[in-house]
Amino acid sequence: LIEQDLRGEKILVTAGPTREPLDPARFLGNRSSGKMGYALATAARRRGGDVILVSGPTALVAPHGVETIRVNTAEEMYARVMENASAADIIVKSAAVADFRPENYVEQKVKKEGASMSLGLARNPDILFELGKGRRADQLLVGFAAESENIVDHGRSKLERKKLDMIAVNDISSAQTGFESDTNQLFVITEDGVVTLPLTTKNHTANLLLDQMVKHKQDRVL
Ligand code: C5P
Repeated sequence: LIEQDLRGEKILVTAGPTREPLDPARFLGNRSSGKMGYALATAARRRGGDVILVSGPTALVAPHGVETIRVNTAEEMYARVMENASAADIIVKSAAVADFRPENYVEQKVKKEGASMSLGLARNPDILFELGKGRRADQLLVGFAAESENIVDHGRSKLERKKLDMIAVNDISSAQTGFESDTNQLFVITEDGVVTLPLTTKNHTANLLLDQMVKHKQDRVL
């Protein structure tokens, strides 16, 4: 039997990459598979949570019992997240949102001409930063970060800058953690310190991270 420790909690999870279109045939994307976010949404639902998943394009099936909203671009993800944010008790942003999009969408497929071409990029909204600015004090706001060096320092500065309660950092310099793999190892940072989770499956990692979130909520109430 699974303990229903998230019963009554409204949980908003984001997952997957975003796709930023260039022309009708091409987009800028990244290597996120969505596995970590889908594992979190699935585990939160099993523990009794009322879960909404906002997902970029992935090859994964929508988790059972989870309201899944599919989006393509960062701007679409931003809009769907903002619509659902104020009602959420917990927000977990595991999506790998593209920081930039092509400045101009070209209506017809771009033809090859010359030996090189350059692409202008425009900055996308930082969804998590905006959530941190408008957050309810009683909300639990959890971010993710992929780092390849100075993992804990970079994590801490994002925790502060984006006004988060918790940030889960993974080391993308290892093949067993981060992008596309079925396993992960997270460093969970809060203002109280760092908890190093074991290297394990993303499904197990999801439950261990939810344990940390439940504990953080309880500690805050005490
Ligand atoms: O600053 P960095 O991109 O490393 O922060 C990662 C965290 O911020 C993730 O939780 C990611 O979902 C979120 N993010 C976002 N919007 C962006 C970029 C990142 O919500 N445009």
